[in-house]
Amino acid sequence: MPKKRILTGHRPTGPRHIGHLVGTLENWTRLQNTHECFFLVADLHVLTTSHAQPEIIQDNILNMLADWLAASIDPSRSTIVLQSIIPEHAQLALLFSMLTSVSRLERVPTYKEQIKELNLQPSLGLLTYPVLQAADILLYKAQVVPVGEDQLPHIELSREIARRFNQAYGEFFPEPDALLSHAARLPGVDNRTMHTSYGNSILLKDTPEETKRKVMSMYTDPMRVHATDPGHVDGNPVFVYHDIFNPDKEEVKEFKTRYLKGKIGDVEVKRRLAEVLNAYLAPLRERRAEYISQPKMLLEVLFSGTVKAKFIAQQTLEEAYQKMGLMHSQSLSEKVLLNSIPGIFC
Ligand code: TRP
Repeated sequence: MPKKRILTGHRPTGPRHIGHLVGTLENWTRLQNTHECFFLVADLHVLTTSHAQPEIIQDNILNMLADWLAASIDPSRSTIVLQSIIPEHAQLALLFSMLTSVSRLERVPTYKEQIKELNLQPSLGLLTYPVLQAADILLYKAQVVPVGEDQLPHIELSREIARRFNQAYGEFFPEPDALLSHAARLPGVDNRTMHTSYGNSILLKDTPEETKRKVMSMYTDPMRVHATDPGHVDGNPVFVYHDIFNPDKEEVKEFKTRYLKGKIGDVEVKRRLAEVLNAYLAPLRERRAEYISQPKMLLEVLFSGTVKAKFIAQQTLEEAYQKMGLMHSQSLSEKVLLNSIPGIFC
């Protein structure tokens, strides 16, 4: 049985944090063993919300890529794709936009949230964000799309578009299945959702000292004033982190028992957490430092994956054009060839 094909990706909004690591990257790394993987650097999607920062995009791409590789995304087994330099992504999105109603897109929850949050006139690009995402997936005829829960409505739309296309023009695109990761969601150090722009995340590239400082400032149990007060463990981010990063499960159990009884202070639990977290991240950070010092090598990885992807993208788009009754680029080269016969170009 051939391996199923995966396509998934991130918007290059900057360096990755430990929430990305345990939420997605570790999952992607494992999936490389069982699937044919395409990992997309979705830089066009970044423009839907911040188009006015051209100077930082490339730096963000390299930083994200260094983190991906450090987290063991392996370009010799998987294909890393830069969305913006394969025009077929935008072209297929245009075709798909003909099959999608405006009102359907206006009902997408991420869109509704964004316009509420940004409090500005949404662009056409923001409205069609999930159409571009459907093109990302279907251009490679991916069958499986590992994503977080917030992305499920986008995958649902991709399935609808595939269905609509197939009904109109004959079976062509697979209906992609979402694959939810079961990793626990990591809270930020202030107990809100971890988000680079909230300043509450621990970055893969942070130094051990920065990590320790962030851990020591971490939100714990607001009800607990003194170390001798009984504390809460459930939903306490310090223990959420211990559960994930501390390999010594006995120690975690003992910390919890003592914490519940008011027999251990936050400082001790946090100090130990900083240690285990830094130990967990150390090998990854070493690799990351190595990669980020070689931007040329990073670009090579990016471009060699993108060249491979381009062949598939071209073929899918040509076929989609044909099915929709459009001429494709081959017709153009045939025409040039025909014209050259009578010697027009001489
Ligand atoms: N929208 C995704 C996110 O914000 C990124 C993305 C773009 C994506 N294209 C994709 C994810 C295709 C999966 C498949 O996380």
